[in-house]
Amino acid sequence: MTERFVCLVSDRRERAERLARGIALVLPCRVIEPGAALPPGSPAAFVVDIAADRAEAEGSAWIERLAALIRGSAMPCLYLARGNGAQNAAARRLFGDPVVVDPRGSVGIVPTLLRLVEEAQAKAAKAAKSGAPEESRSDPRARVGAATRVVTRMFDAAAAGRPPSPTEAEEGTAIVLDTVSEIGIRAWLDLVWRHDILVYQHSLSVAGFAAAFAADLGFSRADRERLARAALLHDVGKALIPLDILNKPGPLTPDEMAVMRGHADLGADLLARNAAFGPDILDVVRHHHERLDGSGYPAGLKAARIGDLVRLVAICDVHSALTERRVYRAPMTHAEAFAIMEAQAGQLDPDLLRAYRPVVARAAAGEPGHAVAPAAAGR
Ligand SMILES: [Fe+2]
Ligand SMILES: [Fe+2]
Repeated sequence: MTERFVCLVSDRRERAERLARGIALVLPCRVIEPGAALPPGSPAAFVVDIAADRAEAEGSAWIERLAALIRGSAMPCLYLARGNGAQNAAARRLFGDPVVVDPRGSVGIVPTLLRLVEEAQAKAAKAAKSGAPEESRSDPRARVGAATRVVTRMFDAAAAGRPPSPTEAEEGTAIVLDTVSEIGIRAWLDLVWRHDILVYQHSLSVAGFAAAFAADLGFSRADRERLARAALLHDVGKALIPLDILNKPGPLTPDEMAVMRGHADLGADLLARNAAFGPDILDVVRHHHERLDGSGYPAGLKAARIGDLVRLVAICDVHSALTERRVYRAPMTHAEAFAIMEAQAGQLDPDLLRAYRPVVARAAAGEPGHAVAPAAAGR
């Protein structure tokens, strides 16, 4: 098991160093500044010392990622108040329900942190003693939280120009496979679609569809892993697309579309820098937007040159894209999405589409009501 640590997020460097020394008396502490990548591993707690109202107003991708990560984790979060109600209110909105501590008050930061961590550990120990598995193992919500943390770190690494860690990709893949096989694709989607960062939501839902599809096709564990890992990583190049294009709430101009389409090559080129990502994964990342009739991108490949793994992920990708809530259109139901996919049979593999139908049926079972939306292609 990896060493637990406290993640101190601070926009005040000197103060952070002092505070980190105090925290280190209790638990290892890692300090990150706004905009920096989150440390690998699983924090035991978060301490946040940033101007929350300014961070919220700026709405940078970094703060949104951090906030989603903290909200999605079961770990305690301590927010250091700055004597300003607006700050505390912004912190509550961003980070769920952090424990707000006034650093000038009589209750110290380190004792409060120690109490929170001990309480969380006692809760986990109690669950273990009663025979129940640890919360992070048993609670699907916590597992989706863990998968989101993995995806966050993979995209953070990619945004900084580094290939994601293959070990983390494996960890994320295992969580998707195990959870989808246990709770089913419908419950997985319900949990994943609660997350508000769309590119993570998309990666996790495509990986979930891939896990369900691979199980239906009777794949071995090794092949299920290969497919789910490729699906989890397929859009990693989007970490390198400017956010104003990635999240544009309207149609892209032809120039913007060309930039957006670059995500396939960017992602594959990035992963190619680590030999642990094999040619089959690179093939999926580079070619998941190719279509059998040659109308896709980046290479306009035709059927004979499009591999099986790519065809499988393409189906899961289109299904996910059509049924997700996107900034530029309302979601559609699984049945509506599948009708569109079948109409694109010249583009998507028709035999695989037929085999995919039961996955769609399971995803649609008990589906929350979606607005009927006009057809629109995913990007
Ligand atoms: Fe894509
Ligand atoms: Fe995608």
